[in-house]
Amino acid sequence: MIRGVRGFAYDDGVLKAGRISLADVARACGTPTYVYAARGIREAHEEVVAAWAPLGAKIHYAVKACSNLRVCRFLRELGAGMDVVSGGELERSWLAGTPMSDISFAGVGKTDEEIAAALSGAHSPLLGSPQTLRGADPTGRGPVGLFNVESRSELERIAHVASRLGVRARCAVRVNPDVDAKAHAYTSTGRKENKFGIDVAGVPGVFDAFAGHPFLELIGLHVHIGSQVKVVEPYVEAVEALLDLLGRLETHGSHIESLSLGGGWAVDYGSGDAPPIRAYAEAVTPLLAPFVAKGLQVILEPGRSLVAASGVLLTRVQHLKESGERRFAICDAGMHTLIRPALYQARHFIWPVVCGASTPPRGESPIASEDLATYDVVGPICETSDVLGNECAMPRLARGDLLAVFMAGAYGMTMTSNYNDRGRPAEVIVTDEGAVLVTERQTLADLLATEENPRPLDLD
Ligand code: LLP
Repeated sequence: MIRGVRGFAYDDGVLKAGRISLADVARACGTPTYVYAARGIREAHEEVVAAWAPLGAKIHYAVKACSNLRVCRFLRELGAGMDVVSGGELERSWLAGTPMSDISFAGVGKTDEEIAAALSGAHSPLLGSPQTLRGADPTGRGPVGLFNVESRSELERIAHVASRLGVRARCAVRVNPDVDAKAHAYTSTGRKENKFGIDVAGVPGVFDAFAGHPFLELIGLHVHIGSQVKVVEPYVEAVEALLDLLGRLETHGSHIESLSLGGGWAVDYGSGDAPPIRAYAEAVTPLLAPFVAKGLQVILEPGRSLVAASGVLLTRVQHLKESGERRFAICDAGMHTLIRPALYQARHFIWPVVCGASTPPRGESPIASEDLATYDVVGPICETSDVLGNECAMPRLARGDLLAVFMAGAYGMTMTSNYNDRGRPAEVIVTDEGAVLVTERQTLADLLATEENPRPLDLD
């Protein structure tokens, strides 16, 4: 089948998730629409769990990859905890049924309100009225299992808010190991010039400064070196740096209970150069096993590897046109719907949902054929960067054809925007029971709602 893809397959020339035809889904709820195959997510989760079983690692799903409530709930039901980076993601994880103790709260810019919500269950004012959260009562839900702390300044704020609330905050310090993940410059996070974490030399001082604080428990180390990382060596380097640090901290009287290794494992977008998930686990297991045997808890934060392969974006061709040598397929999805090609020059395999005999090729290099033509698949947005895929070989297209953009389950919907006043797409999940519309398409009324009540500010 199509390289890297999980949960979708062509059957009799039509793309399906199980027995559900994606052409039928598009007819029922329009385009652009994200479709997720629950079966594929389960398969990826099983692979991750199996790979890391020797270390007994806890899986905290990085919600930012695909924060849809039902996707989170599904992963929760499979046993995942959640890794969140905002008050919004925190509430989603809670609403998805995740106990606070199974949530880790990361992110460089936590506000006092978000810290308070994570400690006490108070709703952040940023989240709107509690009614919008369908009556979920956060009272008494307890503090998050772990804060992944990015700076001394943040630790001071957590200490301040925790003292005010009289709640103890369990914290891990995010270490910047200064390793090169060899990922795209925008998704590399482990070099010292990146804004993330505290440099190795600075970590002991931070532990010293907060040792014995009545409302802080500094009990962990955390690292996340980047995303779509296609090599395992930087993980080995990062783990070595962390274990060395752990030894030094423990000699000075700290006790480290947990080590979070972040996420970042690559998926195969078609070029065939992503290692299997187990390769990442196998590379660091020998280093970590002796520590795990002595009681260390390993935590992982995979996002992309759990959901990317199980999502497709459905888009309809609105116009076809030629300009010089180029042939354009202008679609109703674009950089507002899937920004990865525009932002990171990412390649997503694209193929018609209904393709008759034109079986899609494996991966990115289609077999040359007279039936294929090369298209720049673009969107409706007024930017030259508005591209879904350049030079995509496909069967000859007609206006109205439905296309599937594959491997779009991670950082697709979560990175959409309303640019050019376009609503966000609908989302559908296909389970063994059938297809469910889980997110309505956003309307212009939704967009205008926040502009309906202009009022003079009371600045006194
Ligand atoms: N943990 C932390 C602290 C992170 O910052 C991230 C992702 C993850 C875990 C999950 O990483 P993953 O397993 O998904 O690679 N928008 C970009 C990816 C940005 C990743 C941000 N942080 C893209 O579309 O490629």
